[in-house]
Order: sequence, then structure tokens, then C-alpha cells
Amino acid sequence: MKYQTTTRAASRISADCLIVGVYDRNKLGAAAADVDTASGGWLTMQLRRGDVASALGSATLLPAPEGIKAERVLVVGLGKFGDVSTARFRKATAKAMGVLKDRKLKSLAVGLTVEDVSGAGSYYLARHVSELIEASQYVFDRMKSKRERSRTALASITLLAPSRKDANQAMRGAEHGSAIAEGTGIAKDLGNLPPNVCTPSYLARFAREQAKKRRNLETRVLGETEIRRLKMGTFLSVTGGTQEPAKLIVMQYKGATGQKPVALIGKGITFDAGGISLKPPQAMDEMKYDMCGAASVIATMAVVARLKLPINVVAVVPACENLPSGTATRPGDIVTSMSGQTVEILNTDAEGRLILCDAITYARRFKPDAVIDVATLTGACVIALGHHRTAVMSNDDGLSDALLDAGIHAEDRAWPMPLAEEYAEALKSNFADFANVGGREGGAITAGCFLEKFADGLSWAHLDIAGTAWVSGARKGATGRPVPMLSQYLMNRAGVVPE
Ligand code: BES
Ligand code: MN
Ligand code: ZN
Repeated sequence: MKYQTTTRAASRISADCLIVGVYDRNKLGAAAADVDTASGGWLTMQLRRGDVASALGSATLLPAPEGIKAERVLVVGLGKFGDVSTARFRKATAKAMGVLKDRKLKSLAVGLTVEDVSGAGSYYLARHVSELIEASQYVFDRMKSKRERSRTALASITLLAPSRKDANQAMRGAEHGSAIAEGTGIAKDLGNLPPNVCTPSYLARFAREQAKKRRNLETRVLGETEIRRLKMGTFLSVTGGTQEPAKLIVMQYKGATGQKPVALIGKGITFDAGGISLKPPQAMDEMKYDMCGAASVIATMAVVARLKLPINVVAVVPACENLPSGTATRPGDIVTSMSGQTVEILNTDAEGRLILCDAITYARRFKPDAVIDVATLTGACVIALGHHRTAVMSNDDGLSDALLDAGIHAEDRAWPMPLAEEYAEALKSNFADFANVGGREGGAITAGCFLEKFADGLSWAHLDIAGTAWVSGARKGATGRPVPMLSQYLMNRAGVVPE
């Protein structure tokens, strides 16, 4: 996608379609007002007649009248004037893109980026717009024998800006938004691929290819022999029941010298049947999404590398399947983690924490400044927070706050959950150092407490994305979350985001 910015009047921009915003009670946004003036009151008339709606979420496509350079005008309702949040702005923009879908337009001019949105200047508006435009182009049809529909022709986007300075910020925003959209698309693709295609070996190959494409990125893949040599006993206990070889994928991005890296760790269970503690059949297919943590981490590395952020980041992805068989781990088995701590496995379906804990221990060799693990870890998290917020648990309030703040700015939000000793008591074992499960109550938190036992002395945070990584039902598909949040966090650290 090619982006450009302009400070010219909306009516003077040629494009297949010009998008303008209006507010409740037929109030015109800045670009809409210019269109109205240049067309002799055409838009006001349309609104007054009721042929164009101004409510939040409405989008009306019209052939452009005399006096307007663009071919078409798309009028988008932004809600109450002076009360447009980033979330509403995104909702309206997404709606607009939905209307334009299947229209085969080549060029778009976006006038929404000159509107007043609380807490978002030109940079963020352009970022959200570019992100949503590119997200609207996403199709996953590679497993169909015929492509569902031909891909869109959209190639050129002009973003309106109120001043030269805003135009520069908008350009930067579009650059970042486009990179985040690409990353989100990568995470969606990996998530949506079926578990017979997206195996641990596939993830490893994909991570290698990413590194081949970018000079600042390096990938190393460890096989089971090396994993055994590292004494990753809890990781190995999960992969015991499968034929597919487990992989430990390590990606290193170097954008700075003499700076401690951020370590991102992603749960890469390419299919979670539960192991001997077998899951019930309902929606078990969705456990192909149990590698969405891994997908988001790999995708974030692609974003960081594309934007050449002046920081260091390392990704550690333990990848395997969790299947039942005669060689699978049994409930009651006690295994020794890489850290030396022993774990009584009371439920083989609580496998994510078992692969993550060894990955956290492994990440110590990079002397990380912060460690963030990302995992579709617990069904309990979905019960607690539903599908809109990712859970954040951390032993460092500063890190937790930085992630929550990144989620707000990227509009990929999270919510904190407490890690406290009282909760950790649920993990007591009579036979090993601790068990891999607590009770049903507070299940997302006890999972976090389990991981915390491996994060001693680290600045560490855990993101439970069980509710946010994919949507079920008729629109089943991966969301690509939390790539925007992670990217924002790293962009903030790199200092590349304008005020
Ligand atoms: N991958 C699942 C968590 C999950 C389940 C995410 C459903 C999204 C939807 C995880 O490995 C798991 O099975 N967790 C168990 C833990 C329990 C045994 C303590 C769970 O949540 O039921
Ligand atoms: Mn499980
Ligand atoms: Zn799982």
C-alpha cells in the first residue's frame, strides 16, 4: 500500500473515493464541510432529506457531485461531536471499510484524519486508519481449492492533514500502522492455519524465513536432542504423546548495541487436545489457536524488524503438540523443570505453563531487561474478562503499567489481575515442589502464580490472551492480538512514537 499525506482541501483531491466524517444532528466534520461548500450545499441537503445518516456507525456511499474532484464520497457517522474516542473512531473507520469492500477501488482519500478525537493526534489517527484499511483487506483463503474472491485493487491512500506538521506525523503513523497491520496479518495467518499444517516444524520454518527476509533478524531452532540437553523437563513432558517433533524457536533482533533485550515468550501449542486429561469434543478444533501466543511473538518480531526499532528484542517460542497416547505424560507424573524445580502434573491439560516455564528459564541467558510471555493459557481468563481484554499479570508494576498503557494507545487493551501469595497456595503438592494446577477458582491467576515461580529476579509479565486471540462462531478466526499492544510497547521503549 502506498501512502501519502496532503494538506489540500478535501474537495480538491482526486481519488476513487473520498471518506468524510459527520456527527450527530447532521453536524459536518472539517472535510465534510469543505465538500459541502464546494458542492453548493449538496451534503447538507442529503443529510436534511435523510438520504445520508449521521449516526455513529453509519456509512453512506454516494457518487460525488459537481465540484468534487473524487469520484465518490463516503459519508461516515462519527457520533457525538466532541466525544469521539479512539475506539469509536476505529469502529466508524472499520464500518467505512466494510462498505467499500468488494468495490475494487484503487485509490482512497481519507478525510477522517483531520477530525478531533480525544487522546489521538494526526499520528495515531493515521495509524489507526492505515491499520484498519489493511486489516479490511485480510482474507484467509489459502486452504480453499478456489480463492473466495479476488483480492482488492486498493493501492494508494491519501491521508488528509490540517497542517504540514500534522502531515509529517500522519506519514509516520501510516508507516507504523502499516507495519502493525502486516504483523497482525502474520499472526492471523499462523493462527488460522489448520493444526496439520501449522506444526511446530512449520512455525520453526516460518520463523527462519522471516529472518532470511530481514538482515537485522536471526533465527535459531533447537530440536528435541538439544531441548533434552538443556534439561527442559517440563517442556518435554508435554510433547511426550505426539509424533510431531517439538521445537524451541529463538529469534534475535538487534537494533541497538550494548542494550539489554526485551524477551518475548510465546506459547506454541499447535494443537491442544489436553493430553491424557483429554478435552471434551465441543469446539476442540479451536485448540489449533493454542499457538496464538507464539504467532503474536513471531509477528511482533517482524514488525520490529520492518520498523528497524533501535532496541534489542529476543523471542523464545517453545512449540509442540499436546496429545494423548501410550507415551504421553500421566496425571501424577513428577517432572523436573530446567530451573531444577519439580512439578507434579495433576492435569495434563494445564500444559501451557509447563512449556512456558522452561522458556522463561532459557530466556535468562539473554540477560533480559524485561520478559513478557504471551499465551492462550486458561479458559478461566475467558470467564473472568470475556473477549475484549487481555489479562496482564506481573511481578513488576512498572512493566505492567507500560503494557496496559501500550494497550490503550494501540487500542488493543489489557486489564490487570493480581498475583498474590494467597493464590499461589492453591499449587501446593504433597510430593513435588508444587503442582501444575490449582483449583477451578481464580484459574487464570493460579496459572500466573505458577509462572511467577520461574521469574524470580526478572522483571516479568504474563499476558493471558485466551479470550482475545481469536473469535468463535460464524466469523471464526484469529484476531492477531496482542501484536498491536506488543508493538506499541516496543515502539514506546524505542522512543519512536511522537507525543
Ligand atoms: N489452551 C488451554 C486454555 C484455553 C481453553 C484457552 C479454552 C481458550 C479456550 C489450556 O491449555 C488449558 O487447557 N487450560 C486448562 C487449565 C486447567 C486444566 C487448570 C483450562 O483452562 O481448562
Ligand atoms: Mn490445555
Ligand atoms: Zn493449551
